[in-house]
Amino acid sequence: MWSSPVWVRARRRSAMSVTSTDLITVRGVRKRFGAREVLRDIDLNILAGSITVILGTNGAGKTTLLRILGLLEPADEGTVAYDGVVPGASTVAYGTSTRSPSQDGHFLPLRRQMLLAFQHPAIFSSSVLSNVTYGLQLRGVSRAEAEERSMAALRETGISDRARQHASSLSGGEAARLSVARALALQPRLLFLDEPSASLDPYGTKLLEDLLMHMRDDLGMTAVVVTQDIFEARRVADQVAFLHQGRIIEQAPRDDFFTNPRDEQTRRFAAGELLV
Ligand SMILES: Nc1ncnc2c1ncn2[C@@H]1O[C@H](COP(=O)(O)OP(=O)(O)OP(=O)(O)O)[C@@H](O)[C@H]1O
Ligand SMILES: [Mg+2]
Repeated sequence: MWSSPVWVRARRRSAMSVTSTDLITVRGVRKRFGAREVLRDIDLNILAGSITVILGTNGAGKTTLLRILGLLEPADEGTVAYDGVVPGASTVAYGTSTRSPSQDGHFLPLRRQMLLAFQHPAIFSSSVLSNVTYGLQLRGVSRAEAEERSMAALRETGISDRARQHASSLSGGEAARLSVARALALQPRLLFLDEPSASLDPYGTKLLEDLLMHMRDDLGMTAVVVTQDIFEARRVADQVAFLHQGRIIEQAPRDDFFTNPRDEQTRRFAAGELLV
């Protein structure tokens, strides 16, 4: 399926070299909602050109952490550094400013290199095709090229026959495929996916996982994927971070995480035992 993909031709010129350096370094991040602390002293390293899976149970803080990494939500304390993305260090330091990074124009170039796809994908009130072309046109791609790249992405994700349909009428799985198509067309340097396969059938899940690995291997993309599915983590992760009750219990390369976990809670979670 990936033999002659258009997006490789389109972006190979800007592919990043794969290094083992951090693209994102998180230190001491905390987040409270009211009196509840939902993220506690988070340290996390996201390696450039790799897939990091954040595993955790419901309410662990996964979506909140992803929103902070994606500059949509400010943390209360701590720092998030995006060293490999923009020339010079770009660091979001919390606890010193009340300003949300999502409203800070300084981070616009950084945000333009990111794509976030959430549990419930944000769908614009327009056609399926426009939902894909929008992000490309926002980044200065001409309408004709945007439509060509978007149609190719919709074909790859199996929903090209829905291109002119209103996006709000897509089924849950089709909407998830639309998120995948956006990533495919945009080829962000940094992709954040929140439970991407939750509403995908096995074919859609395979498509998504192949896409992720292809974008990592051929484009040097860095991805952070939130899931509760330990089998998916085993299939796609280079690194796994286990988030439990707002804390990172363990972060390790995939094989170490599953075969030789340091923490007892990690071992139980990786073994599929219930955690309370
Ligand atoms: N805007 C908010 N206001 C108040 N509480 C919030 C807000 N956003 C999240 N929370 C709470 O923070 C906790 C962590 O939420 P989060 O969505 O990050 O969890 P999650 O790990 O993504 O869970 P799930 O697996 O169910 O998606 C939850 O208890 C949630 O109710
Ligand atoms: Mg969530």
